[in-house]
Amino acid sequence: MKRTISVVLVLCLAMGLCACASSGSGSSKKLVMATNAAFPPYESVEGNEIVGIDADIAKLIADDLGMELVIEDMAFDSIIAAVQTGKADIAMAGLTITEDRKQNINFSDPYTEAAQVILVKTTSSVQTPDDLEGLSIGVQIGTTGDIYAADIAGATIERYSKYFEAVNALLQDKIDAVIVDREPAKVFESENPDLKIIDDEFTVEEYAIGVAKENTELLDNINASLKKLKESGKIDEIIGKYIKAE
Ligand code: ARG
Repeated sequence: MKRTISVVLVLCLAMGLCACASSGSGSSKKLVMATNAAFPPYESVEGNEIVGIDADIAKLIADDLGMELVIEDMAFDSIIAAVQTGKADIAMAGLTITEDRKQNINFSDPYTEAAQVILVKTTSSVQTPDDLEGLSIGVQIGTTGDIYAADIAGATIERYSKYFEAVNALLQDKIDAVIVDREPAKVFESENPDLKIIDDEFTVEEYAIGVAKENTELLDNINASLKKLKESGKIDEIIGKYIKAE
């Protein structure tokens, strides 16, 4: 009697283990990417697809790691929390490496350089970042643009949930300037003849992939993937597809 019970127990255990292992290998493991898809050329919605530099790079990394990429579109200021709580595996959103964010998540090696620039109407008298003093400035909530704008003396900061809302406010003369990342600024400028970018860059930054602090294995795998993709020229190829050299 005792023996039958232990045989059954061993069988159950073995089956349990098998069930566990097969759920990982049967369908490939998902790599969930948190983003805010209103930020071309890095991420934007086209039809019912999310396209852009980040989406393309993430797809190559997922393929390299034998994982299935799933992109979750959310508010920009929810992205880091989504990664921290495990709702997403990675944050990829033209996300700038900052010391503050490093308190909450780890960053991969950078995959590209970026900058904050000032976008104004062509009729604006703003010529340098110093001219922003006392003006009203639009930003996307929680971005580095938002953080830097807070340092401008006497400025009023208008925070929008998406950058194109800030740009609309600028076009309607509700605000005087928008502080935004360079490549998205170029997209807005190319779509609106009434807009121009101020030559002086506000800050120089780097974009990287955010991963939860405890997920060091994934971080290492992503860095190894990124290294291969950089060396093979694939990253440059993707960036070149979306950003035309001038
Ligand atoms: N680079 C800026 C930051 O990290 C802005 C990023 C905005 N990204 C987006 N997908 N809306 O704060």
